[in-house]
Amino acid sequence: MAYQTHEGRTAVVTGAGQGFGRVIAVELAARGADVAVLDLNDAPETVAEIESLGRRTVSIKVDVSDPAQVKEARMRVDAELGVADILVNNAGVYPFRDFFDLDYDYWRQILAVNLDSQFLMAQAFAPGMRDGGWGRIVNLASNSLGLAVPALTHYMASKGGAIGFTRGLATDLAPYGITVNAVAPTASRTPGGEANIAEEILDGVANMQAIKRSGVATDIVGAVCFLSSDDSAFVTGQTIMADGGLVRL
Ligand SMILES: NC(=O)c1ccc[n+]([C@@H]2O[C@H](COP(=O)([O-])OP(=O)(O)OC[C@H]3O[C@@H](n4cnc5c(N)ncnc54)[C@H](O)[C@@H]3O)[C@@H](O)[C@H]2O)c1
Repeated sequence: MAYQTHEGRTAVVTGAGQGFGRVIAVELAARGADVAVLDLNDAPETVAEIESLGRRTVSIKVDVSDPAQVKEARMRVDAELGVADILVNNAGVYPFRDFFDLDYDYWRQILAVNLDSQFLMAQAFAPGMRDGGWGRIVNLASNSLGLAVPALTHYMASKGGAIGFTRGLATDLAPYGITVNAVAPTASRTPGGEANIAEEILDGVANMQAIKRSGVATDIVGAVCFLSSDDSAFVTGQTIMADGGLVRL
């Protein structure tokens, strides 16, 4: 059992059905939090792991880019676990597509899932944190912003937006005891990574890192736990590159 740094906390993790989100949700539970598991799909493995740790959980099927569904999810979390004081905006998609094959609808779809969702979730859950006088919001970014990876313009725009959103929101929420930070992974062998990222890109990126192996689902959880705990009380508006030492800020 990990240190109980999150004892008594209630966390919401989006995209917690698999990949980074699943590991984050389970580790927050291991550290003492009750955890709401939000995903487009059912998330039975995540739920079973959290329950096996003796923590309370609720699994909510939700499209986090849909304003009405996000509001409904907030009400279910309140009803089933109580007011959340940690939000991890992890849900995201990263299909590669050449700029000349993008159209506006597709662009909007990527921006909606990766960036609008972070706004919608923060609007839904920050008021409860404000009222409680303590909160932690962690947004998923990407180290691709610091690289020349082809066919990712739409994705890089969304993740650049996530970093800007993090910086702005950090200032607005600081008076209420809420910190807002981002974590930027590298190209990683999660289920989504293996489905979307070509082997030569996974290997090529790994070879440019100081630590020369591809990222895996467990590689960012320590950074997320730090940023969602009391240990990071004086850290806000930052982006931690949890990327094997590739992009340096
Ligand atoms: N894996 C990588 O190489 C990598 C690198 C940098 C950043 N990231 C970021 O990390 C985050 C998680 O990535 P991952 O690799 O674990 O992905 P993944 O595809 O393995 O898992 C993502 C989860 O999010 C869920 N999801 C997708 N769209 C959703 C929506 N609209 N509403 C609710 N849930 C939704 C999916 O159902 C899935 O369970 C994303 O924000 C991604 O951009 C990933």
